[in-house]
Amino acid sequence: LYIVHIAAEMAPVAKVGGLGDVVTGLGKTLQKKGHLVEIILPKYDCMQYDGIHELRALDVTVESYFDGKLFQNKIWVGTVEGLPVYFIEPHHPNKFFWRGQYYGEHDDFKRFSFFSRAALEFLLQAGKKPDIIHCHDWQTAFVAPLYWDLYAPKGLNSARICFTCHNFEYQGTASASELASCGLDAQELNRADRMQDNTAQDSVNPVKGAIVFSNIVTTVSPTYAQEVRTAEGGKGLHSTLNSHSRKFMGILNGIDTDAWNPATDNFLKVQYSANDMQGKAENKAAMRRNLGLSSADDQRPLVGCITRLVPQKGVHLIKHAIYRTLEMGGQFVLLGSSPVPQIQREFEGIANQFQNHEHIRLILKYDESLSHAIYAASDMFIIPSIFEPCGLTQMIAMRYGSVPIARKTGGLNDSVFDVNEETIPHQIRNGFTFTTPDEQGINGALERAFNFYKNNKESWKQLVQKNMNIDFSWDSSASRYEELYAKSISRARAQAS
Ligand code: ADP
Ligand code: GLC
Repeated sequence: LYIVHIAAEMAPVAKVGGLGDVVTGLGKTLQKKGHLVEIILPKYDCMQYDGIHELRALDVTVESYFDGKLFQNKIWVGTVEGLPVYFIEPHHPNKFFWRGQYYGEHDDFKRFSFFSRAALEFLLQAGKKPDIIHCHDWQTAFVAPLYWDLYAPKGLNSARICFTCHNFEYQGTASASELASCGLDAQELNRADRMQDNTAQDSVNPVKGAIVFSNIVTTVSPTYAQEVRTAEGGKGLHSTLNSHSRKFMGILNGIDTDAWNPATDNFLKVQYSANDMQGKAENKAAMRRNLGLSSADDQRPLVGCITRLVPQKGVHLIKHAIYRTLEMGGQFVLLGSSPVPQIQREFEGIANQFQNHEHIRLILKYDESLSHAIYAASDMFIIPSIFEPCGLTQMIAMRYGSVPIARKTGGLNDSVFDVNEETIPHQIRNGFTFTTPDEQGINGALERAFNFYKNNKESWKQLVQKNMNIDFSWDSSASRYEELYAKSISRARAQAS
């Protein structure tokens, strides 16, 4: 198949969180399975340009419509992780992707509706005929209505549209009149069975639009797919998902097992594997030295946490876990940053409090290299999310031999299985879980983990080695996407004949 992903992130060149990892991991695996996979991204000024190989501009520009005018877009092409990527650089006076950051601009709706339209225009003008156009999250959700309203009639009609929602918290809702900028008919679409927001009648909701207008709709784990179909979990979209349930399903993400492999990871001080664990101890020692943590007690467990600091991730529980770890005789390293100024300030306060502490370190920034070092150095890893569509850090942690302590929600519920849970087959138990999102909940799981670590050294080692061998690769999940693509294509053919 010829599959084109239109997305706002792609690891490692333009990554804010897990979305970037998924676009690259899924793309690479589909390519390995023999499909032609291409990615279309905005050309951000703040990308990691050293991750793009042979970047060059195409000779032709692409003209796209916005706010009643036509604008030229320069198209760049390069290779990222072996995948061909087209980067769109709009020649628009608002310099949409020249802002020094990926998201969080006052005109994000305009920036990404512009990009969605320009991406389709590029496919049309370049004469490309993908079988599947796969868009992700609200930023490229516009692709679905744009495709059926404007581009299928213009001849870009070979494709089926797949939309993956990585997080229903972010829906990109805006005033209905904003929709007209990218050429969509705001009046036609601002209807209850189309793009109208389910709670505000004068607003349109891009994620709802993509659910209504895509052929395939997925989210990133089976448990989250159930949760979002309920009033409590659906963030206002449960009724829409329920009326489109036949095309909606949850597929658990994988991780890119080439990028996340302790046996070949160049970010690590020492590489290691399940059969040769000495390197893990050396990474722990190196991290303690580098961060100025005490190395006095070799047996002191090191708890890691790497996350965007947003309410979804259970920031109050993360805070609590720092103090509780200290009380229980552990060490704690947090790597994270927050787009919410108040949360960032709060954690800066804690970071200052522990500035020279021998057991606690908070590093409040985005740092790819340090993230690898922490996965490798830590013995345990906490993910106390309030909700979690999939979550990748628990899987990466396990691959690096760090045992997850996670709240049972969304994709965490589909990938972390409690070592003490009798109803779960022994061979798949891999971590410590809790249900109630409060201090008692996380205390219980932390305490069980610490006791296990201290009192059952040999079993802990076996658990770590077993976890490192779990298959978290994209192979089986990419096959699920392949099946969905194929089914949708054959359904379309059957309808056409
Ligand atoms: P989300 O997408 O909700 O942020 P995921 O668990 O799916 O959560 O993915 C998070 C990804 O971002 C992981 O690859 C993780 O290692 C990475 N990450 C999160 N915060 C940081 C940070 N401060 N520095 C480096 N990497 C980070
Ligand atoms: C979102 C979710 C996270 C998921 C990631 C990739 O950012 O918050 O749970 O793992 O997307 O799908």
